Amino acid sequence: QRSTLFPYTTLFRSVGKIDELEKALGQMPDGNLCIGHTRWATHGGVTQENAHPHLSCDGKISLVHNGIVENWRELRSGLDDHNFLSETDTEVLVHLIEKNYHGDLRLAVAEALRQVRGTYGIAVVHADHPDELVTARFGSPIVIGVAQEEYFVASDATPLLPYTNQVVFLNDGELVLLKRKGMEMTTLGLDHLKIETQNLDWSLSQAEKNGHEHFMKKEIFEEPEALMNAISGRIDLKNGTARLGGLNLSESEMRQIRRVIFIGCGTALYAARVGKYAFERLAQIPTEVEIASEFRYMDPIIDEHTLVFALSQSGETADTLAAMREAKRRGAIVRGIVNTIGSTIAREAGGGTYIHAGPELAVASTKAFINMAAVAVLYALMFGRNRSLSMATGVRVVTALMELPEKIKKILAESEHIQSVADKYAHYHNMYFLGRGVNYATALEASLKLKEVSYIHSEAYPGGEMKHGPIALLSTDFPVFAIATRNQLFDKTVSNIAEARARKAPIIALVSEDEKDFTAADDVIFVPRTMELFEPILNTVATQLFAYYVAVKLGRDVDRPRNLAKSVTVE
Ligand code: F6R
Repeated sequence: QRSTLFPYTTLFRSVGKIDELEKALGQMPDGNLCIGHTRWATHGGVTQENAHPHLSCDGKISLVHNGIVENWRELRSGLDDHNFLSETDTEVLVHLIEKNYHGDLRLAVAEALRQVRGTYGIAVVHADHPDELVTARFGSPIVIGVAQEEYFVASDATPLLPYTNQVVFLNDGELVLLKRKGMEMTTLGLDHLKIETQNLDWSLSQAEKNGHEHFMKKEIFEEPEALMNAISGRIDLKNGTARLGGLNLSESEMRQIRRVIFIGCGTALYAARVGKYAFERLAQIPTEVEIASEFRYMDPIIDEHTLVFALSQSGETADTLAAMREAKRRGAIVRGIVNTIGSTIAREAGGGTYIHAGPELAVASTKAFINMAAVAVLYALMFGRNRSLSMATGVRVVTALMELPEKIKKILAESEHIQSVADKYAHYHNMYFLGRGVNYATALEASLKLKEVSYIHSEAYPGGEMKHGPIALLSTDFPVFAIATRNQLFDKTVSNIAEARARKAPIIALVSEDEKDFTAADDVIFVPRTMELFEPILNTVATQLFAYYVAVKLGRDVDRPRNLAKSVTVE
């Protein structure tokens, strides 16, 4: 709601989605400077008082903050004479700036930040300096968009695309004063730094819906092209291998690698499982997949022969970044598999590969999964060929990979059928996804996607695990979605389906297109055949469409599901 508490500032805050704020705003007020932030609650309840911006006692300084101030209690004890109105850690920052303000906003911000422990990406304005905005970063991303007589400050480059391609990424400990004409970058000690502007190689049309009802659908339908972009120029059909320049390791250094660890969160983590499967199959290198938020606090056994891949669409995920830094600190060779060009993970990894999926605007990640999995397999292929993988097998892998974009198109052409299946199952409250072998990754990703966008409770299990407990829940109102494409574990999966059916669970099965007489399920979705290694890529296209249509049927806010953020920049 509009606040009248502060005479110098027009303040609007609301709880919930941006639409609520838009309603409160009505018409955008006049002005030349504005800060705002959708805060994902970390301290204090989800209330209007805790929403950003926060203001100083005199109402002149306003601040938005992404991150966590760890020493807020300590700092607050030195601010007894200030009037706090929220339960947030952030509010301490604005009062600390007020305490240090003697006419120079930048100086006050720098003074205050030098006392802060924790993470921050902030934007600060002062009513007496209507042409100035100060922004700074430590641990939480800040990117500045430079447009015609306009600046934008954001935590992610993608939303800037409609306005500009020219961006400046801040590093930790950097502070920028934006003025009506020009900007100055300094350290927190106010030593001047050189500003490097980068060109984002993404077009505006990529950031628009182009006739699709939702970004999620548009991004799924972009997958054939996105996958082409990930593999083109990186495969060598003749020699059955891949060429990924960003690895930055010589052939003999590659042979020194004894262990591979993939780190990531959510969808990136599940794409990483495809990488594990590929590395063990093709390169025979022991490979683990670690949840970044766990890895960062574990005692991982790492040495200079360990290669760690950090997977991230945004390149800004706080847990993945922290895990990557920990791996580096312990002596691992670290590389990124990242979508967003110039993002923190991309910059800090000692090399790596952009997945070239183009901007992903729907909160639920789709095309990035496909491209991350493909790039992880390319790495495995390269390592395999550097070791004992035969050229013939390498050629088969490359050939199968090159066929994927066309096969994805075939699945997209089935979207009406997938929609009819989704409509039929949208009213259930629970669902299991079963997948074995490499398709366990498919099941995990399918389950995540469904729960994210439809809010239906779902879980993923390898089929063989059902009898150890989960099967207890099955009944007529608990359907099972089985990933049953034809591979070495097909018969086992069919047995798992029969076990579920015997408990009267309705069954959807994802089946290879040549199994036309498959009768073990109530509803069947056909997908083209591919090499087992690539099944998660094709199968996931179908499960993404399924999740999408369930969410549409239920009238969910598909592109912006509740409680979720596109870049998770806090721990
Ligand atoms: C799933 C989803 C999240 C992200 C996760 C990692 O649809 O969007 O689970 O995959 O937060 O994000 P990135 O890949 O940006 O590191």
